[in-house]
Amino acid sequence: MSASSIDSHLLENRVFPVPAEFAAQANIDEARFNALKAEAEQDREGFWKRLAREHLHWITPFQQGLDASAAPFYRWFADGRLNVSANCLDVHLHGAQRHKAALIFEGEKGEVRTLTYAQLHREVCIFANALKRQGIGPGDRVAIYMPMVPEAVIAMLACARIGAIHSVVFGGFSAEALKDRLEDTGATLLITADGAWRGGKLVPLKRHVDQALLREHEHKVRHVVVLTRTGQDVDIVEGRDIRWEDAVAGQPADCPAEGFEAEQPLFILYTSGSTGKPKGIVHSSAGYLLWAKLTSLWSFDLKAEDVYWCTADVGWITGHSYVVYGPLACGATVFLYEGAPMYPRPDRFWEMIARHGVTVLYTAPTAIRAFMKAGDEWPARHDLSSLRLLGSVGEPLNPEAWVWYREKIGAGRCPIVDTWWQTETGGHMIAPLPGVTANKPGSCALPLPGISAHIVDEQGVEIHSPDQGGYLVIQEPWPGMLRGVWGNPERYRSAYWQKFDDRYYIAGDSARRDADGYFWVMGRIDDVLNVSGHRLGTAEIESALVAHPAVAEAAVVGIPHEIKGEAICAFVILKHEHVGDDRDELGAALRAQVTELIGPIARPDDIHFVDTLPKTRSGKIMRRILRAIARGEEITQDISTLEDESGIDQLRPGK
Ligand code: WT7
Repeated sequence: MSASSIDSHLLENRVFPVPAEFAAQANIDEARFNALKAEAEQDREGFWKRLAREHLHWITPFQQGLDASAAPFYRWFADGRLNVSANCLDVHLHGAQRHKAALIFEGEKGEVRTLTYAQLHREVCIFANALKRQGIGPGDRVAIYMPMVPEAVIAMLACARIGAIHSVVFGGFSAEALKDRLEDTGATLLITADGAWRGGKLVPLKRHVDQALLREHEHKVRHVVVLTRTGQDVDIVEGRDIRWEDAVAGQPADCPAEGFEAEQPLFILYTSGSTGKPKGIVHSSAGYLLWAKLTSLWSFDLKAEDVYWCTADVGWITGHSYVVYGPLACGATVFLYEGAPMYPRPDRFWEMIARHGVTVLYTAPTAIRAFMKAGDEWPARHDLSSLRLLGSVGEPLNPEAWVWYREKIGAGRCPIVDTWWQTETGGHMIAPLPGVTANKPGSCALPLPGISAHIVDEQGVEIHSPDQGGYLVIQEPWPGMLRGVWGNPERYRSAYWQKFDDRYYIAGDSARRDADGYFWVMGRIDDVLNVSGHRLGTAEIESALVAHPAVAEAAVVGIPHEIKGEAICAFVILKHEHVGDDRDELGAALRAQVTELIGPIARPDDIHFVDTLPKTRSGKIMRRILRAIARGEEITQDISTLEDESGIDQLRPGK
């Protein structure tokens, strides 16, 4: 976001009322919304219990609601049992619903495949049996490193069917990042593909897998299932690797849905924090599924007739909750696209929306800004009249992009649902309800029913005065919340609860609330970057830089970027003996190093070679000073805690 758009963001006061036609058909109208809020206020636990009874299919009904005996390690519906895959598939196998499309897939090269609910159910059962055959059972961890193809969804649901815990690793991550996640989860089986198509190029997934599984690493992977996607040559390691086709051959299409405990972990998904390696966020079965389903019904107004498209990869939480679990639990038709957004031309999205009659589109501000930049003529060529709702997630949708999205994609007709949430929250937390809440461009509007979001100051005292910024926190536990950090309960406590003595879940964002109670998210309060809607920890990128033999020390900050939201700027101190090295070559080598250790999304945009970094007397890098320098701003902050003030001047680029 440029400085001028930050200004207009602050001054934004346009209000777009709910279109009457939309309100008339919405799942949640104003009366329902008020009733839900009142019900939650009166008896929050009873509210969640009622919803869990009505919206989930239980194999053993629960009696217990919230168990707060080990807070902040909360448990929900813990004495109940259910099967998550049955809630997404088997419940839709009655009558005509059975033969409606569950998935419509379009490959990057344009081929289309449709799977009805009956067919998806069949494929999931077959693959679940194949997993059992490979020795996988309840509680085992299964890693999934796949392209965006139906088999990725099948793999996730097959794990859920047999109570295995999946851990999807985004296909854009490097071998090294995959290795870290395999070691941390202790996965015994990995599902991958030979490769993936991305922007017309081949991504060698299986080659990354082979690198991640080198013998010296501490993983526990015994078997690798390899889907044939691109047909490229791969090494098949005898006794370890098995082709998908061979794994499913002869497996029966019958795999009864056993009931698993409500609190059985459904998946582990890694996300960046301000310190250390990414955290393995653990989500439950019942509470998570309930929240993914309810928010799909509420925020997206999802109906069985919808052709719904969430453009996220299944490697992110958005793909878990809003490509797979939420929309399938609602019985909608999910559209799935394999490739790059602008491939082969900038109208690929609009062409597919027209071709498949997409009704609900959920995408990210970074994509919207890129399309806006590509030009109005691209969407204008296509009939987008099937669309009825537009969603956004990942970072604040700046008003310019908001208005463009509304006018050029939604023809001024579709409500825009800007959803604030996180990997940790499982589903949307703050969002305008499309049939109820008037839109204000740039604001994610109001907390959903049952969600008690507040803004508190440094002492944890609630801020009531409008427009005063503070910590965005959630006071009451909710079913979709994370259950912990895999293998690291202490980190769960310290990252999310400790600062305010376990009284609130601390999101890590700063926000303000206006006089109408609308939330305006301002950004992260910690050192986490948001690049194209993806969280990246400064610590991860810094350690990737320092791993290069020429680097003595590194510090990374975010700088505003027109399309990506934030771009990565690195300050690097070279080791004495490398000070004379060619800077262009070193810059290229460092970018390659970060790509190799994390993935292309973490590549620094700017690299400044410096002699010193601003530090406090206790040795902490003062990032706010680096941020100001990287942005070319005057340093107005207090630098009294700085160890050596004279160093600041030489940090400025060009000096
Ligand atoms: C962080 C969570 C949740 C799926 C995508 C990213 C930022 C997310 C919004 C929004 C303002 C947003 C926050 C949050 N964020 N959505 N609508 N408005 N900021 O998931 O990687 O867990 O990142 O993304 O900073 O903390 P994630």
